[in-house]
Formats: sequence, structure tokens, C-alpha cells
Amino acid sequence: MSKAAHDKNSGLVFWESPANIALVKYWGKLQGQIPMNPSLSFTLRESVVRIAMRYERVARGAGGLRTFSLNGQPNEKFKARIGQYIESMKAHYAFLADTFLDIESQSTFPHSAGIASSAAAFSALALALGSIENDLDGRHGKGSDFLQKASFAARLGSGSACRSVYGGFTVWGKFDKLPGSSNDYAVKIPDHEIHPVFRNLHNAVLIVDDTEKKVSSTAGHALMNGHDFRQSRIVQASKNMSDMLLALKTGNEELFVEIVENEALTLHGLMMSSRPGYVLIKPGTILMIEKIRQYRRESNVNLCFTLDAGPNIHLIYSTKDAAKVRPFINQELLALCKNRQWVDDGVGSGPIEKQKS
Ligand code: DP6
Repeated sequence: MSKAAHDKNSGLVFWESPANIALVKYWGKLQGQIPMNPSLSFTLRESVVRIAMRYERVARGAGGLRTFSLNGQPNEKFKARIGQYIESMKAHYAFLADTFLDIESQSTFPHSAGIASSAAAFSALALALGSIENDLDGRHGKGSDFLQKASFAARLGSGSACRSVYGGFTVWGKFDKLPGSSNDYAVKIPDHEIHPVFRNLHNAVLIVDDTEKKVSSTAGHALMNGHDFRQSRIVQASKNMSDMLLALKTGNEELFVEIVENEALTLHGLMMSSRPGYVLIKPGTILMIEKIRQYRRESNVNLCFTLDAGPNIHLIYSTKDAAKVRPFINQELLALCKNRQWVDDGVGSGPIEKQKS
């Protein structure tokens, strides 16, 4: 460790990190935030959380989260959750024992809008912790070790967050056909293994309803423990992973569409068939699904929908079809969105570190 690093008592790091949308869903987990099955997602471009994390060295044992604000306002509810997370991270970032953190967080999308804001937030937090660790150790590298540790740490905050550490397409969960894959962190599928037709996919997030969801994802995962379809789901997810990797590599759009929609409807089917069962989709969700499928049949455009743990539709389509699909969104789908709200998103290149103090 350099002398300068020893002398550093305070500093500020900034990260901007995106949400992601799963094509093969993570649903169900084991002890220690280990996924029940592997999942695959792409990282978004526009739906991001920005974190400014200020650190200050204090007496040994006194460290922890001091202040937290969201979109310019102190937020006690999130502060409690993030504070707990920071406590749990003391096992992985030794500096936290004697460091105060002041965190300012901003998000570009409505919370609870069905875009996984926790994935963006926890990936940004984990990356910021890594930057502080680097600062204090006098290191600069943001190489594969740095990103792997960030993905590991993000996972412990929210499972899906580990996939947001990388741009493009990522996989979380041990999958035999993907060497290097792990339950502990996500890995990036190299861009050259993604067929050009999928590299710049568009993702229109169509907001059917923006009220807070009734059942949290964490509670939903827990209901997979005794689920009647648990074993079948594990088998299905494995098959869908294989097929999705094949579709992505070969540019097979029909196969891609089939798996994406199968995964979306399975996710909500699993929620409905949990004990107790619950329903997060709304009438508007079904109406949009019908419109999207009808448009696909009539136009031969291979667009498709997926759903997160909420009622909002993620419409996925290729750049080559954008000129046709945009009028369809404007004329047919926005009328079904709450206050015509939508987010024009797509595949992004991953988190970025902003300037430092
Ligand atoms: C439906 O990652 O939000 O979005 O690990 O309990 O924080 P926790 O759950 P979370 O679950 C997301 C589930 C999903 C599917 C997915 O992103 O794979």
C-alpha cells in the first residue's frame, strides 16, 4: 500500500449503473442468495441509478452508513435497507469497519414501475464500494477481478443486481453448458457470441400501472420453496437457457421470441400457482399482450414481450424493425399505458464511473 493511500482520509466516488431485463428469469433462491436456476438478461441503457458515495475514515468499529438520500430527499425506508446491506458488506470490504458513508442516489425511472430499480441501485453501490477500496489501497484497476467482486457484492444486495455490472448480455447461475458461469456472480456473454440482430435490441418499457406492487420479489422467491412446480421449473429453465444461448448465437429470432414469452408467462404462472397465489398483471397487461401477438402475426415482425415482477410490458424488438414498430407503439400501445408513460430503452454498454474528487 502506498503512503498516499494510507494518508487518504476522505473522498468521493460516483457510479452510474443500469437496470437489466431478464430473458430467462431468476425465480426462486437457496440459502445465501444462490439462484434456484441460472438466468440470462441484457443490461439496459436509459434506466439507471446514479450514486455519489462520500467516505470518511473514523475510529475503528464506528463505520457504517451515515446519510442516504434518494432523488434529493432523505429517505429513511431505503436508508434502513441500504444500512443493513453496508453492515453485511463489512465481511467483504474491511475498510467499512472504520469508514462513514454518505450516499446520494438518483434514479431516472419511477420506483416500483416494474423496472428492477434494485438491480441498478445495488450494482451501483457495489461498484462504488469497489472504487473506495481501490482508492484506499492505492489501486486503479477496473479489470475483471474488480468487476467480479462488484458482481458478487451486488448479488448479496439483490440477486438480479449481479447481472447489471456488465453491459450487453449476462448470465448468473452455474450452467454446465457455459464454462465460467457461477452462482456467486454473473458473467458476461462476449459480444462476439451474440448475433448482430440481437446486439442493439430495443426495449420499450410500457407502464401499465406504476403503483407499488403488493408482493415483493423477495417474498415471491420464497414461495418457490414449496412450490408444486419447483422441479419442473428447474428443468424448464435449463432447457430455456440452452435454447436462448443457441438463439442468441445463431440469430434465430423465432426461437428467441418463443423463449422470451414462455419465460415471461411462466414467471407470472408461477406467481399465480404459488400458495398463496397472487396476480401482478393487470387487464391492460393482457390487452397489450394480445395486441403484440396480433401485430406479430400480421406483420411478420419478430417482436415480443417480457414481464418483470409487475404488470408492465417490456416490448423487445430489433433495430432493423424499429421504423415499423415505433408507429405501432404510438398508435396502439401508448393508449393502454397509464398517462401514456413509457421508457424508450434498449441494450446498454454497462455501468460507468464518473469523475472523482
Ligand atoms: C422477476 O433480484 O429483485 O426480476 O434477490 O430478492 O432482491 P432479490 O430479488 P430480485 O428478483 C428479480 C426477479 C425478476 C427476474 C429476474 O430479474 O431474473
